[in-house]
Amino acid sequence: MSNQARTLKAIKFDRENIKLEILNQLVLPYATTYIPITTIEDAFNSIKSMQVRGAPAIAIVGAFAVVVDTFNYLNSQNSGDRGVNELLQSLDFLISSRPTAVNLANAISDIRTLLAKYDSTQPLNEEIYNQLLEYATNLYDEDLANNYKIGENGLNYIRDSLKEEGFEGPFSIVTICNTGSLATSGHGTALGIIRSTYQALNKDQSKEKFHLEKIYPLETRPYNQGAKLTSYELDYEKIPFTLICDNMVSSLINTLNSESESKSNNSEPVKFIIVGADRIVENGDTANKIGTFQLATIANYFNSAQNTNIKFIVAAPRTTIDLKTKQGSQIKIEERPKHELTTLVGPQLNGQEVGDKVTVGIATPGIDVWNPAFDVTPHSLIDAIVTENTKVYTKDLNGEFDLSS
Ligand code: MRU
Repeated sequence: MSNQARTLKAIKFDRENIKLEILNQLVLPYATTYIPITTIEDAFNSIKSMQVRGAPAIAIVGAFAVVVDTFNYLNSQNSGDRGVNELLQSLDFLISSRPTAVNLANAISDIRTLLAKYDSTQPLNEEIYNQLLEYATNLYDEDLANNYKIGENGLNYIRDSLKEEGFEGPFSIVTICNTGSLATSGHGTALGIIRSTYQALNKDQSKEKFHLEKIYPLETRPYNQGAKLTSYELDYEKIPFTLICDNMVSSLINTLNSESESKSNNSEPVKFIIVGADRIVENGDTANKIGTFQLATIANYFNSAQNTNIKFIVAAPRTTIDLKTKQGSQIKIEERPKHELTTLVGPQLNGQEVGDKVTVGIATPGIDVWNPAFDVTPHSLIDAIVTENTKVYTKDLNGEFDLSS
């Protein structure tokens, strides 16, 4: 286990030597350790155990794993006895690692389409391998380019919304889970918008009358992606933030937004809640990290009862849109093991010293636990869906999204 310098690069793929490594997110932010992935089984295990997580990142790791697995096999001694059908079977296995995020399913469906032109008994060969390589590298490159576009489109939406409202002064943004570089090929989706917005609005030469003062990332129980990963990314990039627990959001908004209204101090009201997505279905209902739905509900309460104007934004590449599923009730929600709620795992800290990993119990042993990894936010509570398309999706007069193009 090597501990290298801090980094935000979740996936390293060596295009010359065909080697794949992932940053072990289970030991962040305390250690920087890359794990080699040489087979589809390695990828399955790392995705299931959440060493790599985030909808776009798991799709990219899945696609690269198919490439390295095929490459290693073609360069091995028993090359020649594995057919297309065996690869197809291992794709079924890979997809079962995490069922809610559609990106992995979409990538595997693309790979199946690519393999469909071969007879299932056809042995794997160089031609097939080259197509897999081209597909996976394009997936990575396009994800990265799209994340920068999402950042730009989100920034424009934020700027236009604040201008339209005539808002002036500092504002803040609430976000959940980790949707940044660590969850994608780089830059991120919801966190990508936050990055792009901070960079644009906080420059000395910014002409706007408003600026992004602070980010409030949620801890994101039970896996704490906000506390461990989003805080790590924001700290790395020196974007000001204050970590809060998931159950502090209503109080936070009540405090910040009412203080700013009474003008008693120059506090930074929450103007946007920006979240990622694991699957956005045809009508706009969105599966994302458990706790997202309650954020949308809270924004809705404040907007209707307290007259605030908090916009709830979903950010994702179009590879997260699942037009084959009509509504959120049809989304399969992954349930995770009980111990993720009843225990905490982390290194022992003695002052500055990071010690060995320990598990501590935080609940009555043997109790019943419900641990869904995601929830579904109804489209009625979503103001905007930001993708790489310049057009930001908003609802028509009937309250419906059209995500078809
Ligand atoms: O369980 P995780 O950590 O994989 O959940 C991640 C999320 O819910 C993200 O918001 C989503 O995958 C989008 S990441 C760009």
